Amino acid sequence: MTNVIDDLDRETHALLAASPLAPERIDALIDDLIHQGFSCQRDFFPPVLINALLADLERLEACDALASAGIGRLKEHQLATSIRGDAIRWLNQESPAQRVYLKRLDELRSQINRALFIGLFEFEAHFARYPPGAFYKRHVDSFQGRANRVISTVTYLNRDWPVDGGGEMVLFESRQQGPDGFDPNAPIQEMARVLPEAGTLACFLSDTVPHEVLPTRLPRASIAGWFRRNASVNGVVDPAR
Ligand code: OGA
Ligand code: MN
Repeated sequence: MTNVIDDLDRETHALLAASPLAPERIDALIDDLIHQGFSCQRDFFPPVLINALLADLERLEACDALASAGIGRLKEHQLATSIRGDAIRWLNQESPAQRVYLKRLDELRSQINRALFIGLFEFEAHFARYPPGAFYKRHVDSFQGRANRVISTVTYLNRDWPVDGGGEMVLFESRQQGPDGFDPNAPIQEMARVLPEAGTLACFLSDTVPHEVLPTRLPRASIAGWFRRNASVNGVVDPAR
């Protein structure tokens, strides 16, 4: 990965130099993941990177490059605004902000691998824009039998988010899925509530931590991402997306 930097443009270089991650914050995040299955780190990313990412999302929005989010992958893909109301765009290294963000998450990936020996091999992420009134009902990010998403990440891009802005992400107690997934009627306890404030990074185990996005009052911007393992299902490697 290090050699790749030599080929990067000046703007990417400058943004990289201006936005290092703090090693002690990475340690704290990994510690939380081990002990409680989730972590919420405020001001994990510096404003210079968050601002660049938000500007990038606003540019994409202005040229109509966001698409309504669907549930499921490939053939199961369907629009389902009763479940989620966000519009998304997958990150693809197309801007300095995306290149730096993906580089930082790759650094985090190797740190987690080193600490936990879990062989995360890939990261995928999309911008998400929730218009006022939008939400994402309670769900898990990875399903039994195709549990290739191992750790979920959410980075928030909203500066000066008011306490009554809505749009909190609620994390519920971690639990193992039964053969048919989760029992939707089982009582479930709230573990944490995360305000979507610029610079905050939330992480949690993708297959055991149910979570939801409460209806937002203001336009809300985030980057949802997943560290993946190369899990194959019936001998077929599940592709990204
Ligand atoms: C998701 C998700 C949470 C958020 O995209 O799967 O749970 O706060 N996002 O944006
Ligand atoms: Mn989710």
